[in-house]
Amino acid sequence: MTTFWSIWVIVLTLACLALCFGLLVWNLKNYTGVEEGESCGHEFDGIEEINNPLPRWWTIMFFATFAWAAVYLILYPGMGNFEGISKWTSSNQGVKSIAESKQAVVDNEAAGKRVQLDQEIRNADERFGPVFQQFAKQDVKDLARNEEALEIGQRLFSQNCAQCHGSDARGGQGFPNLTDNDWLYGGTPDAIKASLLHGRVAAMPAWQDALGDQGIKEMTAYVLSLSGRTVNQKDAAAGQAKFAMCAACHGMDGKGNYAFGAPNLTDNIWLYGGSQRAVEETLRNGRAGVMPAWKDILGEDKVHILTAYVYSLSQDK
Ligand code: HEC
Ligand code: HEC
Repeated sequence: MTTFWSIWVIVLTLACLALCFGLLVWNLKNYTGVEEGESCGHEFDGIEEINNPLPRWWTIMFFATFAWAAVYLILYPGMGNFEGISKWTSSNQGVKSIAESKQAVVDNEAAGKRVQLDQEIRNADERFGPVFQQFAKQDVKDLARNEEALEIGQRLFSQNCAQCHGSDARGGQGFPNLTDNDWLYGGTPDAIKASLLHGRVAAMPAWQDALGDQGIKEMTAYVLSLSGRTVNQKDAAAGQAKFAMCAACHGMDGKGNYAFGAPNLTDNIWLYGGSQRAVEETLRNGRAGVMPAWKDILGEDKVHILTAYVYSLSQDK
């Protein structure tokens, strides 16, 4: 807030309080000219106005709210840019990255500021940290059969992963299904954990310039034929003749390669859709799916539990 608006807010707040206070004090005086309990001399439809004082309990309550307002405004932020002498804030506002956020925690602690969110996270870490640490020592395959760990994993998943992969982890257009045992980067505990810790960035190049319209059409026919779809045989053969340019990543047989996150093109499971149109679009413009890295956000212990949860989703199927 600029200084002007800060002063604006402070002046309005204090003026408003002063006005209410003045009104109350004025009303406590007997300005009617008649004794308390006597009639003021007005009568409306048989109802007489008596000069009664404000009820005592009500007056006390009103004064108490003023005292509360004064204490609150001095202790807590609320009036413009005034930060309050208790140095309390709800969270670190304005941080743009994890590094900034971590730095803010350190800076605030050094400055003796009380940041409620930091405090709550610290308390939660103290309380649940030992639980996570204990699970972190166990093998992923064992954890994947541990009800308690899976319950925690599911909660972590709905908070951090569901917005992209869906609450049932079945994914969507561009976001892989994690329950189907079809993997871009591999489904072993180690591969899943690597996906979570460090994130993944896919790079499927765009082929419009290299292939041209006709080439895209032929290559699409070949790609669709790989998963058993009925296509124009001549187009597919022409596509196959050029498939060497794809083989570096997808393999000569089109079954994909975990090292590049290149999907298996022969299984009729599609990350970006298996219609002719969707495949053409993929080939024309390329694709670059991004899975965020969670190491710094969640920490290794939570990632370990999530790994077990994700691993469990595609077992026994
Ligand atoms: C440099 C490695 C690389 C090359 C070369 C490459 N691809 Fe890909 N391709 C990928 C990656 C990685 C993905 C996954 C993209 C993502 O996850 O965002 C992908 C995705 C695809 C998809 C989408 C699959 C789906 O499930 O929706 C198709 C189709 C495809 N590639 C076909 C081809 C064809 C045909 C060629 C050759 C003309 C080719 N690719 C060349 C790496 C490559
Ligand atoms: C911002 C969206 C987003 C969020 C949030 C997200 N993911 Fe992903 N995730 C993706 C995308 C996109 C990919 C595929 C990357 C690619 O195309 O190669 C992916 C890939 C993965 C993979 C690899 C799948 C495979 O087939 O190899 C796993 C495992 C995974 N995510 C788990 C998680 C978990 C667990 C979380 C929560 C901690 C999470 N993701 C949060 C977008 C997201």
